[in-house]
Amino acid sequence: MADGTDQKSSNQMWGGRFASGPSAIMEEINASIGFDKKLYAQDIRGSMAHAAMLASKGIISPEDKDKITDGLNTILSEIEAGSFEFSRKLEDIHMNIEARLATLIGSAAGRLHTARSRNDQVALDFRLWVKEELQKTEGMLTALIAAFLDRAEENADTVMPGFTHLQTAQPVTFGHHCMAYVEMFGRDRARVRHAIEHMDESPIGAAALAGTGYPIDRHMTAKALGFREPTRNSIDTVSDRDFALEFLSIASICATHLSRLAEEIVIWSTPQFGFIRLSDAFSTGSSIMPQKKNPDAAELVRAKTGRINGSLIALLTVMKGLPLAYSKDMQEDKEQVFDAAESLELAIAAMTGMIRDLEVRKDRMRAAAGSGYSTATDLADWLVREAGLPFRDAHHATGNAVALAEKKGCDLADLSLEDLQAIHPGITKGVFDVLSVEASVASRTSFGGTAPSEVKKQIAWWRGRN
Ligand code: ARG
Repeated sequence: MADGTDQKSSNQMWGGRFASGPSAIMEEINASIGFDKKLYAQDIRGSMAHAAMLASKGIISPEDKDKITDGLNTILSEIEAGSFEFSRKLEDIHMNIEARLATLIGSAAGRLHTARSRNDQVALDFRLWVKEELQKTEGMLTALIAAFLDRAEENADTVMPGFTHLQTAQPVTFGHHCMAYVEMFGRDRARVRHAIEHMDESPIGAAALAGTGYPIDRHMTAKALGFREPTRNSIDTVSDRDFALEFLSIASICATHLSRLAEEIVIWSTPQFGFIRLSDAFSTGSSIMPQKKNPDAAELVRAKTGRINGSLIALLTVMKGLPLAYSKDMQEDKEQVFDAAESLELAIAAMTGMIRDLEVRKDRMRAAAGSGYSTATDLADWLVREAGLPFRDAHHATGNAVALAEKKGCDLADLSLEDLQAIHPGITKGVFDVLSVEASVASRTSFGGTAPSEVKKQIAWWRGRN
Protein backbone atom coordinates (compact mmCIF):
# COMPACT_ATOMS: atom_id res chain seq x y z
CA MET A 1 0.00 0.00 0.00
CA ALA A 2 1.09 3.57 -0.72
CA ASP A 3 0.43 4.53 2.92
CA GLY A 4 2.75 1.81 4.09
CA THR A 5 0.12 -0.38 5.74
CA ASP A 6 -0.12 -4.06 5.23
CA GLN A 7 -3.82 -4.08 4.55
CA LYS A 8 -3.75 -7.72 3.51
CA SER A 9 -3.46 -9.10 7.03
CA SER A 10 -6.35 -8.34 9.37
CA ASN A 11 -5.93 -7.89 13.12
CA GLN A 12 -4.93 -11.14 14.79
CA MET A 13 -7.03 -10.42 17.89
CA TRP A 14 -10.34 -9.42 16.33
CA GLY A 15 -9.82 -9.74 12.57
CA GLY A 16 -11.85 -12.91 11.95
CA ARG A 17 -14.52 -11.14 9.95
CA PHE A 18 -12.15 -8.71 8.26
CA ALA A 19 -10.66 -9.29 4.84
CA SER A 20 -8.03 -6.60 5.23
CA GLY A 21 -6.27 -4.61 7.93
CA PRO A 22 -6.81 -0.98 8.88
CA SER A 23 -5.43 1.98 6.97
CA ALA A 24 -2.46 3.77 8.48
CA ILE A 25 -4.70 6.61 9.61
CA MET A 26 -7.16 4.19 11.19
CA GLU A 27 -4.29 2.55 13.01
CA GLU A 28 -3.00 5.87 14.20
CA ILE A 29 -6.30 7.18 15.53
CA ASN A 30 -7.19 3.83 17.07
CA ALA A 31 -3.97 2.96 18.84
CA SER A 32 -3.54 3.75 22.52
CA ILE A 33 -0.35 1.79 23.16
CA GLY A 34 1.68 5.03 23.11
CA PHE A 35 0.17 5.97 26.45
CA ASP A 36 -1.65 2.95 27.90
CA LYS A 37 1.59 0.97 28.17
CA LYS A 38 1.78 2.76 31.49
CA LEU A 39 -0.87 0.27 32.63
CA TYR A 40 1.26 -2.83 32.00
CA ALA A 41 1.69 -3.82 35.65
CA GLN A 42 -2.02 -3.44 36.39
CA ASP A 43 -2.92 -5.36 33.21
CA ILE A 44 -0.67 -8.26 34.15
CA ARG A 45 -1.86 -8.32 37.74
CA GLY A 46 -5.48 -8.34 36.55
CA SER A 47 -4.83 -11.13 34.07
CA MET A 48 -3.14 -13.28 36.71
CA ALA A 49 -6.07 -12.88 39.09
CA HIS A 50 -8.52 -13.62 36.29
CA ALA A 51 -6.62 -16.77 35.21
CA ALA A 52 -6.42 -18.01 38.80
CA MET A 53 -10.17 -17.54 39.19
CA LEU A 54 -10.92 -19.27 35.85
CA ALA A 55 -8.85 -22.27 36.99
CA SER A 56 -10.39 -22.42 40.44
CA LYS A 57 -13.85 -22.52 38.84
CA GLY A 58 -12.79 -25.25 36.40
CA ILE A 59 -13.19 -22.94 33.40
CA ILE A 60 -9.56 -23.45 32.33
CA SER A 61 -7.20 -26.23 33.37
CA PRO A 62 -4.62 -25.77 36.15
CA GLU A 63 -1.89 -26.49 33.57
CA ASP A 64 -3.06 -23.69 31.30
CA LYS A 65 -3.31 -21.36 34.28
CA ASP A 66 0.29 -22.14 35.22
CA LYS A 67 1.49 -21.55 31.67
CA ILE A 68 -0.40 -18.26 31.54
CA THR A 69 1.03 -17.13 34.88
CA ASP A 70 4.59 -18.04 33.92
CA GLY A 71 4.22 -16.31 30.57
CA LEU A 72 2.83 -13.18 32.20
CA ASN A 73 5.74 -13.13 34.65
CA THR A 74 8.17 -13.33 31.74
CA ILE A 75 6.37 -10.45 30.02
CA LEU A 76 6.52 -8.39 33.21
CA SER A 77 10.29 -8.84 33.38
CA GLU A 78 10.66 -8.07 29.68
CA ILE A 79 8.73 -4.81 30.03
CA GLU A 80 10.63 -3.84 33.14
CA ALA A 81 13.95 -4.62 31.48
CA GLY A 82 12.98 -2.50 28.49
CA SER A 83 13.28 -5.39 26.06
CA PHE A 84 9.55 -5.76 25.26
CA GLU A 85 8.62 -4.61 21.77
CA PHE A 86 5.39 -2.65 21.80
CA SER A 87 3.52 -2.69 18.52
CA ARG A 88 1.05 -0.07 17.35
CA LYS A 89 -0.60 -2.65 15.12
CA LEU A 90 -1.69 -4.40 18.31
CA GLU A 91 -3.51 -1.22 19.38
CA ASP A 92 -3.25 -1.25 23.12
CA ILE A 93 -1.53 -2.70 26.15
CA HIS A 94 -4.08 -5.51 26.49
CA MET A 95 -3.49 -6.91 23.01
CA ASN A 96 0.24 -6.31 23.09
CA ILE A 97 0.54 -8.43 26.20
CA GLU A 98 -1.85 -11.13 24.96
CA ALA A 99 -0.07 -11.41 21.62
CA ARG A 100 3.30 -11.80 23.34
CA LEU A 101 1.77 -14.41 25.64
CA ALA A 102 0.69 -16.41 22.59
CA THR A 103 4.24 -16.29 21.23
CA LEU A 104 5.60 -17.44 24.56
CA ILE A 105 3.15 -20.21 25.55
CA GLY A 106 1.15 -21.02 22.42
CA SER A 107 -2.55 -21.83 22.36
CA ALA A 108 -3.10 -21.70 26.14
CA ALA A 109 -2.77 -17.93 25.81
CA GLY A 110 -6.04 -17.88 23.91
CA ARG A 111 -7.88 -19.15 27.00
CA LEU A 112 -7.01 -16.10 29.12
CA HIS A 113 -9.66 -13.94 27.46
CA THR A 114 -12.46 -16.36 28.41
CA ALA A 115 -15.28 -14.59 30.29
CA ARG A 116 -13.76 -11.14 29.91
CA SER A 117 -13.61 -8.32 27.40
CA ARG A 118 -11.22 -5.46 26.90
CA ASN A 119 -14.03 -3.29 28.23
CA ASP A 120 -13.90 -4.69 31.75
CA GLN A 121 -10.16 -5.25 31.40
CA VAL A 122 -9.40 -1.59 30.72
CA ALA A 123 -11.85 -0.49 33.40
CA LEU A 124 -9.95 -2.71 35.84
CA ASP A 125 -6.46 -1.62 34.81
CA PHE A 126 -7.30 2.05 34.89
CA ARG A 127 -9.12 1.81 38.20
CA LEU A 128 -6.16 0.03 39.78
CA TRP A 129 -3.85 2.73 38.44
CA VAL A 130 -6.02 5.61 39.68
CA LYS A 131 -6.41 3.94 43.08
CA GLU A 132 -2.63 3.66 43.46
CA GLU A 133 -2.22 7.27 42.37
CA LEU A 134 -4.77 8.40 44.95
CA GLN A 135 -2.88 6.49 47.63
CA LYS A 136 0.34 8.16 46.55
CA THR A 137 -1.36 11.58 46.60
CA GLU A 138 -2.63 10.90 50.10
CA GLY A 139 0.93 10.29 51.31
CA MET A 140 2.26 13.38 49.55
CA LEU A 141 -0.44 15.57 51.07
CA THR A 142 0.42 14.18 54.50
CA ALA A 143 4.04 15.26 53.96
CA LEU A 144 2.93 18.74 52.88
CA ILE A 145 0.64 19.04 55.91
CA ALA A 146 3.52 17.94 58.17
CA ALA A 147 5.78 20.64 56.68
CA PHE A 148 3.11 23.26 57.39
CA LEU A 149 2.54 22.01 60.94
CA ASP A 150 6.26 22.45 61.68
CA ARG A 151 6.27 25.99 60.29
CA ALA A 152 3.08 26.81 62.18
CA GLU A 153 4.56 25.55 65.42
CA GLU A 154 7.72 27.65 65.01
CA ASN A 155 5.62 30.69 64.14
CA ALA A 156 2.64 30.47 66.47
CA ASP A 157 3.69 33.88 67.87
CA THR A 158 5.03 35.45 64.67
CA VAL A 159 2.87 38.47 63.95
CA MET A 160 2.08 39.41 60.37
CA PRO A 161 -0.61 41.48 58.69
CA GLY A 162 -3.75 39.59 57.77
CA PHE A 163 -5.28 40.71 54.50
CA THR A 164 -8.65 41.07 52.87
CA HIS A 165 -8.70 42.47 49.32
CA LEU A 166 -4.90 42.20 49.72
CA GLN A 167 -5.20 45.30 51.92
CA THR A 168 -3.98 45.15 55.52
CA ALA A 169 -6.96 44.07 57.59
CA GLN A 170 -6.05 42.83 61.08
CA PRO A 171 -2.88 41.41 62.57
CA VAL A 172 -2.68 37.63 62.55
CA THR A 173 0.13 35.18 63.20
CA PHE A 174 2.09 33.43 60.51
CA GLY A 175 1.35 30.20 62.35
CA HIS A 176 -2.36 30.86 61.93
CA HIS A 177 -1.88 31.60 58.24
CA CYS A 178 0.04 28.31 57.82
CA MET A 179 -2.77 26.47 59.56
CA ALA A 180 -5.24 27.83 56.99
CA TYR A 181 -3.32 25.79 54.42
CA VAL A 182 -3.32 22.77 56.71
CA GLU A 183 -7.12 22.97 56.68
CA MET A 184 -7.20 23.23 52.88
CA PHE A 185 -4.81 20.36 52.23
CA GLY A 186 -6.48 18.39 55.00
CA ARG A 187 -9.78 18.67 53.12
CA ASP A 188 -8.02 17.62 49.91
CA ARG A 189 -6.65 14.58 51.70
CA ALA A 190 -10.10 13.74 53.07
CA ARG A 191 -11.47 13.96 49.52
CA VAL A 192 -8.72 11.60 48.35
CA ARG A 193 -9.57 9.10 51.09
CA HIS A 194 -13.24 9.30 50.27
CA ALA A 195 -12.55 8.74 46.57
CA ILE A 196 -10.49 5.64 47.35
CA GLU A 197 -13.42 4.29 49.32
CA HIS A 198 -15.83 5.13 46.50
CA MET A 199 -13.90 3.43 43.78
CA ASP A 200 -12.90 0.36 45.74
CA GLU A 201 -14.96 -2.03 43.57
CA SER A 202 -13.63 -4.48 41.04
CA PRO A 203 -14.84 -4.17 37.42
CA ILE A 204 -13.42 -7.46 36.12
CA GLY A 205 -16.08 -9.98 35.13
CA ALA A 206 -18.53 -7.39 33.80
CA ALA A 207 -17.22 -8.61 30.43
CA ALA A 208 -18.29 -6.61 27.35
CA LEU A 209 -21.29 -5.08 29.13
CA ALA A 210 -23.77 -7.84 30.02
CA GLY A 211 -21.80 -10.12 32.32
CA THR A 212 -21.05 -13.68 31.26
CA GLY A 213 -22.57 -17.15 31.25
CA TYR A 214 -19.38 -18.77 32.57
CA PRO A 215 -19.55 -19.64 36.27
CA ILE A 216 -17.03 -16.98 37.28
CA ASP A 217 -16.44 -15.74 40.83
CA ARG A 218 -16.16 -11.97 40.82
CA HIS A 219 -15.78 -11.83 44.59
CA MET A 220 -12.65 -13.93 44.27
CA THR A 221 -11.01 -11.64 41.72
CA ALA A 222 -12.11 -8.57 43.67
CA LYS A 223 -10.41 -9.92 46.79
CA ALA A 224 -7.27 -11.02 44.96
CA LEU A 225 -6.88 -7.54 43.48
CA GLY A 226 -7.36 -5.76 46.80
CA PHE A 227 -10.84 -4.38 46.14
CA ARG A 228 -13.53 -4.33 48.83
CA GLU A 229 -16.11 -5.98 46.55
CA PRO A 230 -17.10 -6.34 42.88
CA THR A 231 -19.13 -3.65 41.10
CA ARG A 232 -22.87 -4.41 41.05
CA ASN A 233 -23.99 -3.55 37.52
CA SER A 234 -22.10 -4.79 34.49
CA ILE A 235 -23.44 -2.06 32.18
CA ASP A 236 -22.41 0.70 34.57
CA THR A 237 -19.07 -0.98 35.16
CA VAL A 238 -17.86 -0.65 31.58
CA SER A 239 -19.47 2.80 31.12
CA ASP A 240 -18.17 4.38 34.29
CA ARG A 241 -15.25 6.75 34.46
CA ASP A 242 -16.42 8.58 37.58
CA PHE A 243 -13.33 7.40 39.39
CA ALA A 244 -11.16 9.24 36.85
CA LEU A 245 -13.37 12.33 36.96
CA GLU A 246 -13.27 12.26 40.72
CA PHE A 247 -9.50 12.06 40.69
CA LEU A 248 -9.35 15.01 38.30
CA SER A 249 -11.84 17.04 40.37
CA ILE A 250 -9.86 16.45 43.52
CA ALA A 251 -6.64 17.23 41.67
CA SER A 252 -8.16 20.47 40.36
CA ILE A 253 -9.32 21.63 43.78
CA CYS A 254 -5.97 20.71 45.31
CA ALA A 255 -4.12 22.47 42.48
CA THR A 256 -6.29 25.52 43.07
CA HIS A 257 -5.20 25.52 46.71
CA LEU A 258 -1.60 25.10 45.63
CA SER A 259 -1.92 28.01 43.21
CA ARG A 260 -3.18 30.34 45.95
CA LEU A 261 -0.22 29.37 48.10
CA ALA A 262 2.10 29.79 45.11
CA GLU A 263 0.74 33.29 44.55
CA GLU A 264 1.32 34.20 48.19
CA ILE A 265 4.88 32.90 47.98
CA VAL A 266 5.46 35.03 44.88
CA ILE A 267 4.11 38.12 46.64
CA TRP A 268 5.81 37.48 49.97
CA SER A 269 9.20 36.94 48.40
CA THR A 270 9.22 40.28 46.55
CA PRO A 271 11.64 42.87 47.97
CA GLN A 272 8.59 45.09 48.58
CA PHE A 273 6.95 42.58 50.94
CA GLY A 274 10.07 40.69 51.99
CA PHE A 275 8.13 38.40 54.35
CA ILE A 276 10.05 35.29 53.31
CA ARG A 277 13.21 34.20 51.61
CA LEU A 278 13.12 31.16 49.36
CA SER A 279 16.02 28.76 49.60
CA ASP A 280 18.49 28.64 46.73
CA ALA A 281 17.25 25.12 46.10
CA PHE A 282 13.81 26.41 45.19
CA SER A 283 14.56 29.59 43.28
CA THR A 284 16.38 30.62 40.14
CA GLY A 285 18.51 33.51 38.98
CA SER A 286 18.19 35.82 36.03
CA SER A 287 20.60 35.56 33.12
CA ILE A 288 20.73 39.34 32.77
CA MET A 289 19.94 40.85 36.18
CA PRO A 290 22.49 39.57 38.70
CA GLN A 291 20.55 40.73 41.76
CA LYS A 292 17.49 38.62 41.05
CA LYS A 293 16.20 35.58 42.83
CA ASN A 294 13.06 34.39 41.14
CA PRO A 295 10.31 32.19 42.60
CA ASP A 296 10.07 30.04 39.45
CA ALA A 297 8.95 26.92 41.29
CA ALA A 298 6.03 28.78 42.83
CA GLU A 299 5.13 30.29 39.47
CA LEU A 300 5.16 26.89 37.81
CA VAL A 301 3.02 25.39 40.55
CA ARG A 302 0.60 28.27 39.92
CA ALA A 303 0.63 27.47 36.20
CA LYS A 304 0.24 23.68 36.54
CA THR A 305 -3.22 24.41 37.89
CA GLY A 306 -4.29 25.49 34.42
CA ARG A 307 -3.15 22.20 33.00
CA ILE A 308 -4.84 20.12 35.67
CA ASN A 309 -8.11 22.04 35.40
CA GLY A 310 -7.88 21.57 31.64
CA SER A 311 -7.68 17.81 32.06
CA LEU A 312 -10.83 17.81 34.18
CA ILE A 313 -12.74 19.83 31.60
CA ALA A 314 -11.41 17.63 28.79
CA LEU A 315 -12.59 14.39 30.36
CA LEU A 316 -15.91 15.83 31.48
CA THR A 317 -16.45 16.86 27.88
CA VAL A 318 -15.44 13.44 26.53
CA MET A 319 -17.89 11.69 28.88
CA LYS A 320 -20.75 14.14 28.42
CA GLY A 321 -23.59 12.67 26.38
CA LEU A 322 -21.99 9.23 25.87
CA PRO A 323 -24.64 6.55 25.59
CA LEU A 324 -24.22 3.43 27.75
CA ALA A 325 -22.19 1.27 27.69
CA TYR A 326 -18.58 1.44 26.40
CA SER A 327 -17.62 3.74 23.53
CA LYS A 328 -14.15 4.20 22.15
CA ASP A 329 -14.31 7.86 23.18
CA MET A 330 -13.42 6.58 26.61
CA GLN A 331 -9.93 5.69 25.44
CA GLU A 332 -9.24 9.44 25.68
CA ASP A 333 -9.52 9.26 29.46
CA LYS A 334 -6.00 8.10 30.19
CA GLU A 335 -3.74 10.86 28.89
CA GLN A 336 -5.70 13.47 30.83
CA VAL A 337 -5.38 11.53 34.06
CA PHE A 338 -1.71 10.63 33.52
CA ASP A 339 -0.80 14.22 32.73
CA ALA A 340 -2.76 15.66 35.64
CA ALA A 341 -1.28 13.09 38.03
CA GLU A 342 2.25 13.90 36.97
CA SER A 343 1.64 17.64 37.29
CA LEU A 344 -0.04 17.31 40.67
CA GLU A 345 2.74 15.15 42.08
CA LEU A 346 5.36 17.63 40.94
CA ALA A 347 3.41 20.58 42.28
CA ILE A 348 2.89 19.03 45.72
CA ALA A 349 6.53 17.93 45.92
CA ALA A 350 7.83 21.38 44.91
CA MET A 351 5.54 23.09 47.38
CA THR A 352 6.54 20.75 50.21
CA GLY A 353 10.19 21.55 49.48
CA MET A 354 9.54 25.29 49.43
CA ILE A 355 7.61 25.25 52.69
CA ARG A 356 10.24 23.11 54.43
CA ASP A 357 13.07 25.44 53.32
CA LEU A 358 11.30 28.75 53.75
CA GLU A 359 13.10 31.46 55.73
CA VAL A 360 10.51 33.48 57.65
CA ARG A 361 11.53 37.15 58.08
CA LYS A 362 9.81 37.86 61.37
CA ASP A 363 11.08 41.47 61.58
CA ARG A 364 9.58 42.33 58.21
CA MET A 365 6.29 40.68 59.06
CA ARG A 366 6.14 42.46 62.42
CA ALA A 367 6.82 45.86 60.86
CA ALA A 368 4.15 45.35 58.20
CA ALA A 369 1.67 44.06 60.78
CA GLY A 370 1.77 47.37 62.61
CA SER A 371 1.27 49.57 59.60
CA GLY A 372 -1.97 50.28 57.80
CA TYR A 373 -3.97 50.88 61.03
CA SER A 374 -4.35 47.14 61.44
CA THR A 375 -5.54 47.48 65.05
CA ALA A 376 -8.43 49.81 64.19
CA THR A 377 -10.95 47.02 64.90
CA ASP A 378 -9.33 46.56 68.30
CA LEU A 379 -9.92 50.23 69.09
CA ALA A 380 -13.56 49.94 68.02
CA ASP A 381 -13.98 46.80 70.14
CA TRP A 382 -12.39 48.59 73.10
CA LEU A 383 -14.89 51.46 72.76
CA VAL A 384 -17.77 48.94 72.78
CA ARG A 385 -16.37 47.01 75.75
CA GLU A 386 -14.97 49.79 77.94
CA ALA A 387 -16.94 52.91 76.94
CA GLY A 388 -20.27 51.17 76.29
CA LEU A 389 -20.67 52.44 72.68
CA PRO A 390 -22.84 50.58 70.16
CA PHE A 391 -20.47 48.94 67.62
CA ARG A 392 -21.60 51.19 64.76
CA ASP A 393 -20.78 54.34 66.76
CA ALA A 394 -17.47 52.85 67.86
CA HIS A 395 -16.71 52.08 64.20
CA HIS A 396 -17.38 55.72 63.30
CA ALA A 397 -15.24 57.12 66.12
CA THR A 398 -12.40 54.79 65.18
CA GLY A 399 -12.69 55.99 61.59
CA ASN A 400 -12.12 59.52 62.89
CA ALA A 401 -9.05 58.32 64.79
CA VAL A 402 -7.65 56.67 61.63
CA ALA A 403 -8.23 59.88 59.66
CA LEU A 404 -6.40 61.88 62.33
CA ALA A 405 -3.47 59.43 62.41
CA GLU A 406 -3.31 59.58 58.64
CA LYS A 407 -3.23 63.39 58.78
CA LYS A 408 -0.46 63.28 61.35
CA GLY A 409 1.42 60.60 59.46
CA CYS A 410 1.58 58.24 62.45
CA ASP A 411 0.14 54.93 63.68
CA LEU A 412 -2.91 54.67 65.92
CA ALA A 413 -0.73 53.74 68.89
CA ASP A 414 1.27 56.99 68.37
CA LEU A 415 -1.74 59.27 68.86
CA SER A 416 -1.76 61.01 72.23
CA LEU A 417 -4.41 60.35 74.85
CA GLU A 418 -5.65 63.95 74.34
CA ASP A 419 -6.00 63.33 70.60
CA LEU A 420 -8.04 60.19 71.29
CA GLN A 421 -10.16 61.85 73.99
CA ALA A 422 -11.01 64.61 71.53
CA ILE A 423 -12.51 61.89 69.37
CA HIS A 424 -14.33 60.27 72.27
CA PRO A 425 -14.20 61.50 75.87
CA GLY A 426 -14.70 57.96 77.23
CA ILE A 427 -11.23 56.89 76.09
CA THR A 428 -8.69 56.25 78.88
CA LYS A 429 -5.01 55.28 78.76
CA GLY A 430 -6.01 51.61 79.06
CA VAL A 431 -6.75 51.80 75.32
CA PHE A 432 -3.02 51.63 74.54
CA ASP A 433 -3.03 48.01 75.78
CA VAL A 434 -5.04 46.93 72.74
CA LEU A 435 -3.42 49.12 70.11
CA SER A 436 -0.28 46.97 69.80
CA VAL A 437 -0.35 44.14 67.28
CA GLU A 438 0.73 41.60 69.92
CA ALA A 439 -2.19 42.56 72.16
CA SER A 440 -4.54 42.46 69.22
CA VAL A 441 -3.46 38.98 68.20
CA ALA A 442 -3.45 37.64 71.76
CA SER A 443 -7.00 38.86 72.31
CA ARG A 444 -8.52 36.83 69.47
CA THR A 445 -9.13 33.70 71.46
CA SER A 446 -12.42 32.66 69.84
CA PHE A 447 -12.37 29.05 68.61
CA GLY A 448 -10.27 28.99 65.43
CA GLY A 449 -9.02 32.54 66.07
CA THR A 450 -5.51 33.87 65.59
CA ALA A 451 -4.39 34.01 69.25
CA PRO A 452 -1.21 31.93 69.68
CA SER A 453 -2.96 29.88 72.38
CA GLU A 454 -5.72 28.95 69.90
CA VAL A 455 -3.34 28.25 67.04
CA LYS A 456 -1.37 25.89 69.29
CA LYS A 457 -4.58 23.99 70.07
CA GLN A 458 -5.30 23.60 66.35
CA ILE A 459 -1.76 22.39 65.72
CA ALA A 460 -2.17 19.76 68.45
CA TRP A 461 -5.50 18.67 66.94
CA TRP A 462 -3.91 18.14 63.53
CA ARG A 463 -0.85 16.39 64.96
CA GLY A 464 -3.16 13.73 66.32
CA ARG A 465 -4.79 13.25 62.96
CA ASN A 466 -2.11 12.34 60.44
N1 ARG B 1 -7.78 0.68 24.37
C1 ARG B 1 -9.14 0.63 24.78
C2 ARG B 1 -9.44 1.78 25.74
O1 ARG B 1 -8.55 2.34 26.27
C3 ARG B 1 -9.43 -0.67 25.43
C4 ARG B 1 -10.85 -1.09 25.34
C5 ARG B 1 -11.21 -1.42 23.93
N2 ARG B 1 -12.54 -1.92 23.85
C6 ARG B 1 -13.17 -2.02 22.69
N3 ARG B 1 -14.40 -2.47 22.72
N4 ARG B 1 -12.62 -1.68 21.56
O2 ARG B 1 -10.55 2.13 25.97
